[in-house]
Parts: sequence; C-alpha cells; structure tokens
Amino acid sequence: SSYDAGEHDSFMHKEMVEQPAAAERVLRGRLDERFGTAHLGGLGMDARETRAIRRVKILGCGSAYYVGQMGAALVEELARIPADAEAASEFRYRDPIIEPDTLYVAVSQSGETLDTLLAVQEVRRKGGRVIGLVNVVGSAIARECDGGIYLHAGPEVAVASTKALTNMFLGFALLALQLGRVRDLSIADGKRLIAGLQRIPEQLEAVLAREDEIAGVAARLAEAESLFFIGRVRGFPVAREGAQKFKEISYRHAEAYQTSELKHGPLALISEAVPTVAVVPYDELTDRNVGALHEIAARRGPLVVVTHADVDLGDVDAVRIDVPRNERELDPILLTLPLQLLAYHAALLLGHDIDKPRNLAKSVTVE
Ligand code: AGP
Repeated sequence: SSYDAGEHDSFMHKEMVEQPAAAERVLRGRLDERFGTAHLGGLGMDARETRAIRRVKILGCGSAYYVGQMGAALVEELARIPADAEAASEFRYRDPIIEPDTLYVAVSQSGETLDTLLAVQEVRRKGGRVIGLVNVVGSAIARECDGGIYLHAGPEVAVASTKALTNMFLGFALLALQLGRVRDLSIADGKRLIAGLQRIPEQLEAVLAREDEIAGVAARLAEAESLFFIGRVRGFPVAREGAQKFKEISYRHAEAYQTSELKHGPLALISEAVPTVAVVPYDELTDRNVGALHEIAARRGPLVVVTHADVDLGDVDAVRIDVPRNERELDPILLTLPLQLLAYHAALLLGHDIDKPRNLAKSVTVE
C-alpha cells in the first residue's frame, strides 16, 4: 500500500512523529480569531440549540475514554456545563437515563468499536442527540451520529493510538470553545485559547525533539515489573493514558492513581523496586503535587516527573522531563506526549512488537 512506516522502525513511531502535522489538520479552518471561537459546521446545531445544552456526556473505550475525561474537563472549564466521560462498554448495561438537553459525544479513532457504536445506538433509541469525534470518515459510528467533528489525523495503523488521541483532545478543545462562546466564555478568553491552540503543533515538535533524552529515562523504567502513573485533576487522565500505553506495549504492570489518593492505600506498595511517573503541571496544584513526591521519595520510590520548567521540585530526588507550557486548560495534551515516548522506548528495549502487541486488536469489533 502507499502507506508504510518509511524510515521509521514502526508505525507507532511514525504516527507519534506525525502529531504536529496532524494537529494542524484538525485545527485548520476551524478557528475564528476575530471572535475567539471555533467553527464546527459538522455539528449541525445553530447557536440557540448549542445554547440549550445543559450537560455533556462523553462515551469512548480505552484511550478514547481517557481522552474523553480530558475533554470533559475542557467542556467544564471553558463552557461551565457539567460534563463527564464514561466507558462506552459499560454505558448501555446500566440502563442509562437519556436526557433531551444532554449532548452525547461518541469518541473513536476507528469509528468501528462495537461497544461505542452500541452506546450511540442506545442513546438514539431513547431520543438523545449524539455527535461523533471520529477519525475514519464514513465509519459505522460516524454514520450513526447526528453530526460530528472529523479528526483528520490520517491513517493510524499501530494498535497503540497516538496521533488520533492528540486530535481527539484538540477536537474537544474546539467543541468546548464553541459551547463556551455561546455562554459566558469571554471573547478575550476565547482569543487566549485560540492563540494557545495555534502554538500546540510547534510545542509538540519541541517535545519530539527531546526523544533521545526521554529514551534514556525509559531505559530505567523498562526494568521495573510494576509502576505507578499519578496525576490529579487535569493530570489524572494523562496518567491513565500513560499507564495504558505502557501496559499495552511494554507488558509491564502500570497502575494509574490520583496523586491525592496515594496516601489512602497504594503508598504501601512504594519501594525502590516500584517507580512512579508523576504528572506535575505548573498550576494551582503544583505545591500539593510536590508534597506527594516527597512522600514517595521518602519511601525510596524512583521518580520520573513530567512537568514544566517553572515547577520547583525542591530537593526531591527525581528525573524530570520538562515540556513547554501552554494555557493551563490545554497543557494535558503536551504532558501526554512524553508518556507515549516512554512506553514506546521501554517496549523497544524489551524487544516487543511495537505495532502489534499480544492479545490486542486495533479496533475491537466484538462485544
Ligand atoms: C489505544 O492505545 C488502545 N489500543 C485502545 O484503548 C483504543 O483507544 C480503544 O480500543 C478505542 O478504539 P477507537 O478509538 O478506535 O474506538
């Protein structure tokens, strides 16, 4: 076929490196700099209908679900509409309450994940409105939705999803902007976020440029049988996604936890043999996060901290990976990229099949 891994050792590597270009594509033609909003013609909703939405419910599986959690935070922060994400695989089994003023959002790279498709059908059967954030044009989920946002990530072959997830996050940012600007998000804040979105491609590039350094950090992690990935609030879905990627291709046990919950149990597992990858952005929670790092360091747990240069870790003994800062709301996606690179380099060192990990399929079309 015309699509191959080229000079890359794997599709996953090619797809990670393609992220700046993919990010440009999902944003192209959709940013309105003048009015600080997004134009999403595919939603098929006018301002009045958009304004009538009182809740947002995001449905996806695996990594799409974790990015959905990042998306829910964006919707709540920018539009101040209650929003949450749920595993699409669970949704239909709990007889969900479908409300007419809720916007349901199905998120899927392939558009063929059966659990997500059945969740969409459950919503529609009960008269709810569903839009799709889907990469594959004309896929089953895209066809089943009332409207949507195509992700334009280009073909994704590796089982471990990377560029599609980045574009899902950006798709949620566009949706949140549009929802926000028909409510109380000011034109100034809209413009601030648009400027932030425009910086994302070059900032992703800046993270990719540090791949060798990140590979060195991965070498330390690859030896561990078990790891924690921690973060809180905006950082928690980032940690979940980081652990997911690590499990999928390195086959190591990686557990995501809220940093704030460590002391309520899992701190008992911390030792020299159990490294922690901590997501510590420069934000209102930095000091609390650094406090938790001290707790881990005191139990001699090796620490890798994915953070911003402005964060002062004090005397904590940690390996740090600094990523460029954006607007707080948009930082999660930049904090996610080093976690993809960590998983990839750990798997490479361990000699695993990067693109086709054992037991997994690219899209899960069975129940
Ligand atoms: C991602 O790395 C995983 N392979 C997996 O969790 C995936 O995101 C999930 O199966 C959803 O797939 P979809 O986006 O095609 O619906």
